[in-house]
Amino acid sequence: MINERVLDKEKMPKHIAIIMDGNGRWAQQHGHERTFGHQNGVEAVRSVIEGAGEMGIQYLTLYAFSTENWNRPKAEVEMLMSLLVKSIRNELERLMKNQVRLMMTGRMEDLPESCRKELQDAIDQTAQNKGLTVVLALSYSGRAELTDMAKAVAADVAAGRLAPEQVTDQTVQERLYHGDIPDPDILIRTGGDFRISNFLLWEVAYAELFFVPTMWPDFRKDDLREIIIDFQSRERRYGKTGEQVRGE
Ligand code: FPP
Repeated sequence: MINERVLDKEKMPKHIAIIMDGNGRWAQQHGHERTFGHQNGVEAVRSVIEGAGEMGIQYLTLYAFSTENWNRPKAEVEMLMSLLVKSIRNELERLMKNQVRLMMTGRMEDLPESCRKELQDAIDQTAQNKGLTVVLALSYSGRAELTDMAKAVAADVAAGRLAPEQVTDQTVQERLYHGDIPDPDILIRTGGDFRISNFLLWEVAYAELFFVPTMWPDFRKDDLREIIIDFQSRERRYGKTGEQVRGE
């Protein structure tokens, strides 16, 4: 019998987060500058957004630029920012057609003015779309998000709005950049490394992790589909026993 790998529509993940790594190495392997890898990474972004939408995923968070990435050579940072502006401009019509809602997470105030404006326009224009929500992580780091959360909690305590003993998981959750978005069910990292790299540190607590050797510019929606099928055969126990989860 052929063991056909099919998606189980009843067990779809709600939220997938991706660390898009390997652009630089992909370019070097092809005898080009690192920036060539970023340009080709856009095609992978397009394919994955399309695939996630088709499969009925609700949230896709893409790590496009970390707070640490500001330390890269100035020319690469500038190129990435202008690629972002250009990509948003080029893709907006397609995002509208596919009912994709765009959001961002991270310190938007760090981004150059032109980038902020383009991004905010796209966020506003797509705000009412009812399909996939794409969250671009830009000037984002998990520790920065947790630090900003701690500042917010401290401010509430200092102002007498919150007592320290009232602080719970939910207090923290509500003060994240987007505490209302469900946690990622799946975290994917392309590019062959086995690291979280300061991404969504609180939110990935129970995510299923997938580290794949494919460099990001080669990643396509079929690769995403295969990962979701693998995810569907994993048992998520959230600290319980297998018997408890299966109701035995
Ligand atoms: C990591 O590869 C990738 C980035 C820092 C940038 C990701 C940007 C894109 C995929 C293009 C633009 C995105 C959007 C949303 C339009 P790397 O440079 O760290 O690769 P390396 O590990 O091989 O050096």
